[in-house]
Amino acid sequence: MCGSYVRSLMQKRKSTRSFSFEELSTSLLNEVDIILQLGQKAGNKKSVRGRLVLSSSERETCFIASGFQEVIRKAPYLILIGNDDAVLSESYEGKHIESLGCQNASIAAQNLLLYLTEKSIGTCWVGGFENTYLQKKLNLDFRVWVMLCFGIENMEVGI
Ligand SMILES: Cc1cc2nc3c(=O)[nH]c(=O)nc-3n(C[C@H](O)[C@H](O)[C@H](O)COP(=O)(O)O)c2cc1C
Repeated sequence: MCGSYVRSLMQKRKSTRSFSFEELSTSLLNEVDIILQLGQKAGNKKSVRGRLVLSSSERETCFIASGFQEVIRKAPYLILIGNDDAVLSESYEGKHIESLGCQNASIAAQNLLLYLTEKSIGTCWVGGFENTYLQKKLNLDFRVWVMLCFGIENMEVGI
């Protein structure tokens, strides 16, 4: 077998949809945005955005936007990961911006997901949601591509 650490993280990661109430440290939460920004970005522009959803009313908006997916309500932490298309438009003569933005956000989300996996923090990638509704209701100045739920997994499920 190849002793690849990245491979082992990829194998360890599974979607978590049941969480404990355990809080994560402030230093870890601070690290989240840094991790999002560490990935490669189209045009090397700083266009990737991460926005933690903090209030319960915002959480409810995300829940509705996701078509009422319970994991959005249950996860202790939820971050919206997207791309500021206006910043990215300064490159590539303004072409292919939507697709490039989606790729930027997906790379950032996957990097974060593997980082959290390494810390034994459960994640659930939610990509099925109504972005127009979300962006308008939360007054966001960037396009959201991924809603990433995370937190300590509830290990007692099914016992
Ligand atoms: C692009 C993408 C979109 C996804 N959207 C959702 C979603 O809206 N809701 C959800 O519960 N899971 C979603 N998932 C998680 C997948 O359902 C899950 O990764 C897949 O079933 C494999 O299970 P695993 O993650 O446990 O390996 C998404 C995953 C990806 C990669």
